[in-house]
Amino acid sequence: MVCLGNICRSPIAEGILRHKLKSQGITHVETDSAGTSSFHVGEAPDRRMRATAIQNGVDIEDLRARQFVPADFDRFDLIYAMDQSNYNNIIALAQTEDEKNKVRLILNEIEPEANKAVPDPYYGGDEGFQHVFDLLDEATNVIIEKYVKR
Ligand code: 4NP
Repeated sequence: MVCLGNICRSPIAEGILRHKLKSQGITHVETDSAGTSSFHVGEAPDRRMRATAIQNGVDIEDLRARQFVPADFDRFDLIYAMDQSNYNNIIALAQTEDEKNKVRLILNEIEPEANKAVPDPYYGGDEGFQHVFDLLDEATNVIIEKYVKR
């Protein structure tokens, strides 16, 4: 799960997916998140995102921001970008078609080819965080049905 800062959208995407996999007893899937930027490396998720997580029964307190690195193309089968800018930044680091094909816009799992963005809540109000949670809750349900329960 990849966004810009790895403190708002991608940590909650990782947290929701991890939470669902664990509660469904699925142990063979590795999850992680990263930011395309180095702005917040080492930081915990934004306190507003942590509060929204707790209100929705998801624990992301242990997560710490890191920057996306080209080695992530080897580590992961699927790389989900939160918006088109994240997508473009990840694609720019890809060296093969195989690597490029791993990269997806996450909301296309809900609405294929619509190319919608998970809105960046960083500069907005608190309600933006619940909206992000709800979008990613829906997208992770599709991901589990489509790629995990095969
Ligand atoms: P994120 O949100 O990409 O969802 O983690 C942001 C966090 C920090 C900044 C931008 C977006 N920033 O510019 O510092």
